[in-house]
Amino acid sequence: MPDIQAPRGTQDILPEEQPWWDYVRTAAERLCREFRYEQIDTPAFEDVALFKRTVGGETDIVQKEMYVFEDRGGQELALRPEATAPVCRAYIEHGMHNQPQPVRLYSITPMFRYDRPQAGRYRQFHQFNVEAIGDESASVDAETIEILWRLYEELGLTGLTLNLNSIGDAECRPRYLEVLRDYYRDKLDRVCPDCRGRFEHNPLRLLDCKDARCQGVIAGAPALADYLCDACAQHFADVKAYMDALGIPYVENPRLVRGLDYYTRTVYEVQPLEEGGQSTVGGGGRYDGLIEMIGGRPTPGVGFATGIERIILNLKRQGMPLPDRSKLDVFVVCQSPAARVSAFKLASDVRRSGFSAVVGSADRSLKAQLRHADSLGASYAAILGERELAAGEVTLKRLNDGSQETVALDGLPQRLSGGR
Ligand code: HAM
Repeated sequence: MPDIQAPRGTQDILPEEQPWWDYVRTAAERLCREFRYEQIDTPAFEDVALFKRTVGGETDIVQKEMYVFEDRGGQELALRPEATAPVCRAYIEHGMHNQPQPVRLYSITPMFRYDRPQAGRYRQFHQFNVEAIGDESASVDAETIEILWRLYEELGLTGLTLNLNSIGDAECRPRYLEVLRDYYRDKLDRVCPDCRGRFEHNPLRLLDCKDARCQGVIAGAPALADYLCDACAQHFADVKAYMDALGIPYVENPRLVRGLDYYTRTVYEVQPLEEGGQSTVGGGGRYDGLIEMIGGRPTPGVGFATGIERIILNLKRQGMPLPDRSKLDVFVVCQSPAARVSAFKLASDVRRSGFSAVVGSADRSLKAQLRHADSLGASYAAILGERELAAGEVTLKRLNDGSQETVALDGLPQRLSGGR
């Protein structure tokens, strides 16, 4: 072990793990092309105020999990814990309201949260993040949910539950929060200490406390759905109608509130079979007030993020075989030191004609080099020894059936193209 190791909660994604990442990334990118979402990349760090104002000063993310630092110029910055606020900042900063709305954007990037590390929970993790900004129609909410659901379907993730709720807007939520506080006021001695704090600072979060002491109180709490204003109730009904039309199964969950403060109306989360908020694979919702919070004109938005590590963890848990690693076309076996330069040149020619090639080490035996070729999944071994060198030829061995033929050295790329 080196005496310096990767920081706690981070991980090296080794070459043998990369096929999983390729598999997920490729499916996400393909879907984004299908729905015409365009890629955006924002900086890994931002002004800390961006997250305090939007994610919320009372949330776990801002209070306990952000990596905050002062740079040498004295500016207070935070490593991005999520992507929605940065993408909205970019939307304002680059005048994207002048484009046809909604502006559809996605990114696949690392996020940073000082979380308690465990399976599927890291301090640096990666999100596939999707945002549609500038349109309040329920069909756009439904579109984002469809992308998320299609992603899981196409990856072959099974046993998922889509939880759906509406948490109202600035019009109806304050009234509900009063009703909720009234309900909790004489029960505060029965709930956990955290909930006593939530009662003061963030009452909506009372509803998704996981502490056993609070479950009885939560079960009797008034439901937000009964307090939605007409516009929010209609919007929620519309989202559900779109889900029904698409045949996407969902569970209406009146306790679903999410852990970030910027949400309005629709919220959703996808849970794998294994219980618990820790294991949520993806979540999102609408955030119609966010852009105003950071100085933009009133602009609605909706989106989601799904954790790539968690997707991969669940694919593995359900026993999915490792997606194929990229194949090697030709392994050039170099059978004598004299053939080194010709082998090197042969591999170069093969690559220039669009095939992958690796050259073996002349110091190793034919057998060892063929074993190496096998371990790289090579389709062919091109064997170059003194005899071949003298004749200007190469022995081409097809590794899946062992069949062999002799090919002129300069004819190999052409032979490979023919054999495609
Ligand atoms: P979030 O629920 O905080 O939402 O995170 C979304 C997903 O990121 C989670 O469902 C989970 O898969 C993954 N995730 C979160 N924390 C960790 C962690 N410590 N380790 C591994 N994976 C993690 C958001 O971030 C919102 N910005 C989503 C959104 C986009 N809402 C609207 N647009």
